[in-house]
Amino acid sequence: MNHRSISLVLGSLVLGSLGTLLVGCSDGDGPAQPSSPDVTGTTYFQAAKPILDGRCASCHVDGGIAPFALDTYASAKQFRDSIKSAVEDRTMPPWLATDGCADYVADRSLTDEQIATIGAWVDEGAREGDPAAEAAPLDAVTATGLTRVDRVLEMPVDYVAQTEPDDYRCFVIDWPETESKYVTGFRANPGTPEVVHHVIAFLIAPSQVADIESLDAAEEGPGYTCYGGPGTNQARWIGSWAPGNPGYDFVPGTGIEIVPGAKVVLQIHYNTLTAGALPDRTSVAMKIDDSVERKAWIQPWTNPQWLDGGEMVIPAGSEGTTHEFGFDPTPFLSNDKPLRLYSAALHMHVLGKTARTEIVRADGERECLLDIDRWDFHWQGAYGFAESKLLNPGDELHLECSWDNPTNKDVDWGEGTTDEMCLGAYYVSVEE
Ligand code: HEC
Repeated sequence: MNHRSISLVLGSLVLGSLGTLLVGCSDGDGPAQPSSPDVTGTTYFQAAKPILDGRCASCHVDGGIAPFALDTYASAKQFRDSIKSAVEDRTMPPWLATDGCADYVADRSLTDEQIATIGAWVDEGAREGDPAAEAAPLDAVTATGLTRVDRVLEMPVDYVAQTEPDDYRCFVIDWPETESKYVTGFRANPGTPEVVHHVIAFLIAPSQVADIESLDAAEEGPGYTCYGGPGTNQARWIGSWAPGNPGYDFVPGTGIEIVPGAKVVLQIHYNTLTAGALPDRTSVAMKIDDSVERKAWIQPWTNPQWLDGGEMVIPAGSEGTTHEFGFDPTPFLSNDKPLRLYSAALHMHVLGKTARTEIVRADGERECLLDIDRWDFHWQGAYGFAESKLLNPGDELHLECSWDNPTNKDVDWGEGTTDEMCLGAYYVSVEE
């Protein structure tokens, strides 16, 4: 592998739906252990409410991203049977990382004991209990949000989606700073939330600006179509946003450098299925600092040969086809210095079944970073490590994905929804 193939990798990223990168990275400490509810009286107020409030209500409130609220006794009782099966199946709360791989910040998964408590509450008739003796709340695990806004970059004009129901559009925005600065936090402000499905901000280096501008000029109307990345080989993420995300500060002491003359491209996925094609003008808010202790960036990772076709085939009608890749990235990413990893994310499309990324140490020892044993395209995102990991020269960054292909067509790497991918992404810095 050489530098050319690595830039090829960077340029071919799709990750349109990678979801919420770096949520939960704002704090170096793991979440506090929740106090265990009183399970002797398995009633709503004595047992179920603390769990529903602490692990569900951030999304299940009126106006939240979940389809119904779960913040009152009446609503919890109404949905009791589906609540029980969703928590027992571990489909709710959404958290794809399997236990025992690594410890993460803002881990919102339920403990076995909490799942048993919900089950017992439902089985014993979903009783209300005594509101006056309400059990203590659990510690919240929701992200802290973006703590300071220094710059807001807005789409220059309104845009109305042109293809239905999905339109992936890129908008080029000038970077206003005249000196090198570091982005240290990120949030998107969707202009018309009914149609904005996700937003990714890409950083375009000055040397790539001309390419981007010609793409923009080649198409009618504001922006240009960009299902995959923004269309240049060296684009990097700054941040990404999906509904329900309050934004996030990056890991303290770290930031992504942006030099004068760079541009920011906002890739917006519009979905007009429910609301129709409404005009939108979305902006992104950033926290910016003059300097940081450690320059960091979001590093995508995959086998460059998979991109050429023929090397990551998932045969028609196959089950459990697995492809894997491991390589020491330090010679070309960090001049043979160690890399510090703060978070990991994995990306496949809809045929994905399992995915795993780990460090294979020079002595063969394996350290798990992220393991997903029931892939769900709709719940992608980055998992921030409770303790950052060091990848030393000689270690391999390893990636493995498996798929079921029930269709009658061979599937290969590609950017379309019926193609597949196997990709890791890590927030990293060089360890000096
Ligand atoms: C991060 C946001 C989020 C959190 C936290 C969350 N939910 Fe959900 N929930 C959703 C969304 C969105 C849906 C709609 C279906 C989907 O998109 O998967 C949903 C759907 C459901 C459903 C419908 C059936 C199903 O499985 O799809 C149930 C029941 C449910 N949630 C219960 C819970 C419970 C109980 C908790 C807490 C223990 C919880 N949810 C936490 C977002 C969330």
